[in-house]
Amino acid sequence: MPRKADAAPKTLKFNPEYPDARSIVTQIEPVRSGPAPGTCPVHNFNYTETKPAGTWHARYDDLSSESPVYWNQFGPGFWTVVSHEGILEVLQNPETFSNSVVTALDPDPQYKWIPEMLDGAEHLQWRQQLGPLFSPKTVERLEEKVRQRAIDLIDEIVAQGTGECDLMAQFAQRYPTTIFLELMGMPVEELDQFMEWEHAILHTPAGDLETTQQVKIGAMQAVMGRFAEIIAERRVDPRDDIVSKALAFEVDGEPVSDADLLSFCLLMFMAGLDTVAVTLGWIFQHLATHTEDRQRIVDDPEVIPTAIEELLRAYAIVIPARKVMKDTEIQGCPMKAGDMVNIPLATATRDEAAFENAKTVDIARTPNNHIAFGAGPHRCLGSHLARRELKIALEEWHKRIPEYRLSPDVELIETGGQLGLTSLPLEWDRN
Ligand code: HEM
Repeated sequence: MPRKADAAPKTLKFNPEYPDARSIVTQIEPVRSGPAPGTCPVHNFNYTETKPAGTWHARYDDLSSESPVYWNQFGPGFWTVVSHEGILEVLQNPETFSNSVVTALDPDPQYKWIPEMLDGAEHLQWRQQLGPLFSPKTVERLEEKVRQRAIDLIDEIVAQGTGECDLMAQFAQRYPTTIFLELMGMPVEELDQFMEWEHAILHTPAGDLETTQQVKIGAMQAVMGRFAEIIAERRVDPRDDIVSKALAFEVDGEPVSDADLLSFCLLMFMAGLDTVAVTLGWIFQHLATHTEDRQRIVDDPEVIPTAIEELLRAYAIVIPARKVMKDTEIQGCPMKAGDMVNIPLATATRDEAAFENAKTVDIARTPNNHIAFGAGPHRCLGSHLARRELKIALEEWHKRIPEYRLSPDVELIETGGQLGLTSLPLEWDRN
């Protein structure tokens, strides 16, 4: 039976008015002619909708307390696995669960994000060549630049002298984007344009599916147009950036094509920007509403690395998807070749079967073997960079603004799909 919504842990329920998951999730008889959901529940809803903050993590908690897998008839229809055990099984069996399609609402994509949408040997060859560009050693070399970027952005906020900011717009979204542009060798002055494209690709809500896909594809084409120019420039004038290095990559002994280089740039764009930004949003939202945790970070910055792991775990944001390649079964639910499967990682990282007191945040939790960065062959390539960016952000912010709170009377909103706050108004006392 689903747990009562009001029994959800206080630490993770930000908006006491959030809709009871069961009032928007409908239990209905299966009607589709495709895979027989068998005895598995059916819950129909648009998982990309924008909602009051906290709704999605709480709703997935409710869904996973009922059953490890359910079928959702929204759009083209897809499975959702909501248990640690089931999600690991999907992630670690790439021959059954392919990465060739990674968006449940777009089962026939006209694009290929590299390496995310590759399988098998081709994927492995890309990973082997990309590995050194994202190694801990490479990240170490970026330390100074990343720290300076954080300091500049925070100093700018302090210098406003207003004692308030929108953390998402003024810090969280700008910080990783500028680092990304530098890594890729792109002009930092193009930040605003890149953020606009990023928003269209990742946050256009799925209303009318066809229009949504058109907006997204339009933005992807614009990004690729800009990257095409950069690739052409780097062929003539290589520099010390990821695009220049990727020009030397080979697959099956052949140089990678410009089309594949573009698909790689597009994936990098989507994988590295929004993820760090929305994770920062959840972290600061948590610290602004949990004085003890915030104070502990101020008093003892040594706790920052474990705090980051715990906040990544408790507020995992990514909902990967896979395409089923052969008939199979996950925890009693029959899946047919061709079906799509969503795997909200938060349901794995918040599963009581995998973590004691999984719904409670303990910023000193160890061990903390979470899968917020995924698992299996597609595990996040940028995890070392992401962790470093998050660590530096927390260190530099708390040196300058140690006490802060949510601005009063603001309703926080989050996007579905990739779970993230749209804005986070904070305020603090001016000295
Ligand atoms: C907190 C920040 C981040 C989170 C939570 C995150 C999470 C993830 C997850 C869950 C996956 C696996 C997706 C799947 O299984 O389909 C992934 C893949 C990936 N991530 Fe991240 N990521 C973050 C930051 C970054 C950054 C900063 C970069 C690079 C600049 C990056 C680059 C990638 C790439 C290239 C892949 C694809 C790997 C492959 O397909 O082999 N990520 N990320």
